[in-house]
This record gives sequence, structure tokens and C-alpha cells, in this order.
Amino acid sequence: MNPLRCDRTEAWAALKGHYEAHGRDLDLREAFARDPGRFASLSVEAPELFADLSKNLVDLATLRFLQDVARECDLERRRDALLAGEVANLTEGRAVLHTALRAPKGVASPFNADVHAVLDAMLAYAERVRADDGITDIVNIGIGGSDLGPQMVVPALDAFCQRGKRLHFVSNVDGHDITPVLRGLDPKKTLVIVASKTFTTQETMANAAVARAWFLAGGQGVNESDIARHFAATTTNVKAAAEFGITTTFGFWDWVGGRYSLWSAIGLPIAIAIGEANFRALLAGAHALDRHFAEAPLAQHLPVLLGLLDVWYRNFHGFTSRSVAPYHQGLRRLPAYLQQLEMESNGKCVDVDGHALPYGTSPVVWGEPGTNGQHAYFQMLHQGTDVIPVEFILVKTAAHPHADLQTKLLANGLAQSAALMLGKDTDSARAEKAPTASATLDRDVLARHRSFPGNRPSTTFVLDALTPRSLGALIALYEHRVFTSGALWGINSFDQWGVELGKALCNDLLPRLASGDTAGLDGSTAGLLKRLTA
Ligand code: F6P
Repeated sequence: MNPLRCDRTEAWAALKGHYEAHGRDLDLREAFARDPGRFASLSVEAPELFADLSKNLVDLATLRFLQDVARECDLERRRDALLAGEVANLTEGRAVLHTALRAPKGVASPFNADVHAVLDAMLAYAERVRADDGITDIVNIGIGGSDLGPQMVVPALDAFCQRGKRLHFVSNVDGHDITPVLRGLDPKKTLVIVASKTFTTQETMANAAVARAWFLAGGQGVNESDIARHFAATTTNVKAAAEFGITTTFGFWDWVGGRYSLWSAIGLPIAIAIGEANFRALLAGAHALDRHFAEAPLAQHLPVLLGLLDVWYRNFHGFTSRSVAPYHQGLRRLPAYLQQLEMESNGKCVDVDGHALPYGTSPVVWGEPGTNGQHAYFQMLHQGTDVIPVEFILVKTAAHPHADLQTKLLANGLAQSAALMLGKDTDSARAEKAPTASATLDRDVLARHRSFPGNRPSTTFVLDALTPRSLGALIALYEHRVFTSGALWGINSFDQWGVELGKALCNDLLPRLASGDTAGLDGSTAGLLKRLTA
């Protein structure tokens, strides 16, 4: 029996008592009125980023109780074991060492020499592609962890991207993804990267085959021998890539989880977009956060505090979702990236010993960049029946010349977190001048529509600028926070068996879509298959 599960600690019982006595009813407005030092005591400086935790439904006592749970769960020893390369992914018998991918050359870290040999080769290749005026377009074909990281980072670092080269990302087995991408491209000026840890993933292999056929049909003078220049693979399965006909291959290792792989050869499209120096800065930013993860005391440990908040909200307040609102358009794919990172990692219902968990694990993670989200779902965040903690990401300095837009953006971000917390009571709403269209409605009824409950929690991160370094730190922050909550929940955050059943059923259904055979299928699937094949 895993003794390190949060609910089996003595501190958990104390935390429950604290929740009943104080935690459940904490009112943020009263907490700020009581304690003028609340912002200072509940904010944290970490490498490359500042975090204001003071608008969360906690006080210092809550955080102390939560840290006691973390200590009793042996969190620091388990973190050290993870960083040392002990097998943390038990169901696959693997170490989990994405941190080793960003350790500088020569640092005593597992696999340092191997990591840097591949990194140097991959970055040298990226520089050659950048210098090659004959290549104008790069198409990355991959899915999940072999897609979401590069697809998120490249637009985020647009200010650092080489002009004159276009990056495209194809992931979906739906042909509506690859078709418009290839339509506008010249095969002779295109580099296709097939990114797949396993080199067996159905979607990626199918799209790679389409790209290969498109390339070979690409006009006069294109033949098999050109694949060497126009295709590259990033994979742990070099043999399968070679069988596909790809000779330019950059490898990585089974101890790099797909959703933790943008730091490995999977980052090749990023390296082509931003160049060697900037890619190294991305790694350096993540490494700075890794040092914080390894060394900071729990009370100032940002990823631990965030992971503890996740446990607090999920298991005490019962909040089932968390919204991420990056106030930077470049981070528009961050919520999708975090969905895989968090929900594939911690969306589990048994502990490491296989026992059913008596509590909730990963929240639903979702969001859109601000200010767009404000004009869509923020209504629900402010006045809906569910409380959804929000994470605001504000970037102080913009990479564009429009100072007025940047000021408006920041004002919006600040306003939303303040509005969520402060709310508006019915007396204030009643005192407001009613809009003409509502003049016939009872003032009290209207005031109830126009009031906000407030006391809705949020965290605000502030980055000075969105650079390779700060983005590296931000992503690593989320990785380590996921480790923290997963460790307390007693689950394996590093496998993903939940995606396998659908894959197996898909393989069974594939031939049936041609034959129409419904034997042995459940009634609904059989009915749908008939409808689709009629
Ligand atoms: O869908 C599950 C998954 O295994 C992810 O964990 C992974 O990132 C993705 O598929 C892609 O896998 P691969 O890189 O092997 O193609």
C-alpha cells in the first residue's frame, strides 16, 4: 500500500480541520482588509517570472498545512529521485528525465554527454536549414507531444523567428489538416519533419505517407534520392524512420515522455524558427526553473505552491476545472499544450498500487488568450454557478511598437482578476443607473442580474518579456507543478494508458468501414457505422 498518498497522511486530517474551520469560508475581500501585507506574503519571485498568489482562497496557515502534507508525502525525496533518474514511471519501467535535456554541457546530470551530442547535431542541422535559401517552408508532422510543444512555442516566440521561412504544423489524421497546408507549397522548397517518438502513431504515419507521395509527385526532377534533403525525422525509433526512407534523423530516449519532449530533438522546428542561440536560451530558462525546483524551500517554491493549490481546490473546494488566460496572443496555443501536459499526466483514477482513488485528480484545463476570452466565456467565470480558478499570464513588455494596445491589454488583465475577486453586491448594482431598455423591470430584480458574487480565485503570473528564456521557465514551471500534484495524489503522472483502448478499437473498426461488418459491435456503434457506410 502506497503510504505516500495525500489522504493517508496525518497532515491531511489537520488540513481537513483547517478547511472546515477557516478555509471553506475565506473571503478574499476580508482577507485583504485584515492583512495589508497579503500581496507581499503571498507572492513569489521565481526565475524569469513573478507570481501573485494573493487572490487565491488561502492564507499562510493553509499553505503551511498543505506543505505539511507535501512533507509527509516525502515530496522532496521523490523530487530528488526523479532528478537523479530513478524509475518514476513504474508502469512503463522508465526514468523521467526531461530535466536532463536542459542541463548545461558538463553538468553532472544523467546522460549529459548523449544529450549534448544530439543537441549539437540537431542545432547544427537547424542552422544549415536556416541558411538554405532553397528551403522556404517547413512542415512538422506529429501529434500530441510531438506537435503541441513546437506548435505552441513557435508563435509564442514570433519576435525571435527568422523571416522568410514559414513553419506549418500538421497533426490531425483528418485530411482537412494536411490538404490546405500542402496546397500552397512547392515540394522542391519544402522540408518535411516527421516527428514521432515511436514512429508508429497512426495519424503521423498516415500524414507522413501523404506528404511523401505529394513530394514524389512534385514535378520534374523530384525523385526518391531527394527525400534525404527534404525529409527529416525526430524519433527514438531510428530503424523505422530509415525504413520509411528518411536518413536525416535526430534521436532521443525512452526516458523523455512525449508531453515533455519539446526540449529534445522534437524541438527541431523550434530550433529552425528561432536559431541555435535562442533555442539554447529556451533550455537555459527551463534549467533555471529546474534549479528552483531542486533547491527552493517549500514556502517559496512556486511549482510546489501551485501544485498544492491544485490539490486544495480539487479535493477541498471541489473545483473541477481551471482556466488559463494568457494575455499575449503569441501564447494562444498554451492552453492546448497544458491540456496534454496536465490532463494526460494527472487524469488518472488509480494510485501507483492500482487502488481506486477516493478523490478527484486532474482538473479540466482550458482557456483562450485575453482579451478574446473576455468576450466569450468570462461571463460564466464571473456569474456562473461554478467557481473556476483562473490563471492570468501578463507580459510587461510587448514585442510590438503599439504602446497603446499593450496598455489596454494589461489594464484588461488586471481588471478581470480584480472583478473576479471584488464582485459587486446587489446594493451597488441597485444604486447604478438602470439601462433604458430595462426601465420597466423591478429595480431589485435587475440588481440581482447585475450583481457579481466575487470571491472568485485567480493567480497572476508576470513575465518582464516573452523571450526564449522566460518561456522556457514558464513551461518548466507547469511541468513541475504537475509533478507536485501528481505526487500528492499518489498517481503515476508519466504514463497514458487511457489513450490505448480507443486506438485498439479504431484498429478493429478500420476494416469494418470498408466491409460494413457490424458483427459483435454495440448497438450504437453498429448503428452509426451503418449510417456512415450506407
Ligand atoms: O496519444 C498518446 C500519445 O502517446 C502521446 O502521449 C504522445 O505525445 C502522442 O501519442 C504521440 O506519440 P508519438 O510521438 O510516438 O507519435
